[in-house]
Amino acid sequence: MRSFLTIFCLFVCLSWTEANEVSQDFQVVKGANKTYFIHPQKTLFMEGLFICEESGLDLLSIDSEEENKEVTSEVASTGYKTFWTAGVNLNEKGNDWVWLTHKEQSPSAPITYFNWKQGQPTPVTPDSSCILFTKDDLEGTWSNVNCREEHIPICQSYISPI
Ligand SMILES: *[C@@H]1O[C@H](CO)[C@@H](O)[C@H](O)[C@H]1NC(C)=O
Repeated sequence: MRSFLTIFCLFVCLSWTEANEVSQDFQVVKGANKTYFIHPQKTLFMEGLFICEESGLDLLSIDSEEENKEVTSEVASTGYKTFWTAGVNLNEKGNDWVWLTHKEQSPSAPITYFNWKQGQPTPVTPDSSCILFTKDDLEGTWSNVNCREEHIPICQSYISPI
């Protein structure tokens, strides 16, 4: 439970800080409704959350099959295969998956669309509570992994409708 609280504390504490300029280091990809910012280095989950937050961005959330397809095709050019999403499990005993995003000023939003890899999610433990996005050829699937693994964080911002 402590690790979840730490994630939340970090998230909530950071949300009080001012949004900075978006770092020049990101590779920027425009999608239909979001702009994606691909960080050039692998990080721990928490570092990814922090890096996005620092630039006034959210870590990646995926809300539909269309978005999952978009991320799958847009990230293809980066040469990386695995990416951090903002998805975490908040319940040690079961499935309570949320996106740690800023949407509607709420620190987390229940995940409604899933695209788990076959055999995933594995039984949730504090060591397998972060959602990783994996691109295999034409497919983008999710798995729950240890938050202390290192992967490329993708940040996002919403493109406001005109
Ligand atoms: C973009 O938003 C429109 C309108 O809500 C939606 O129909 C479409 O599926 C979205 N596209 C992606 C790639 O998420």
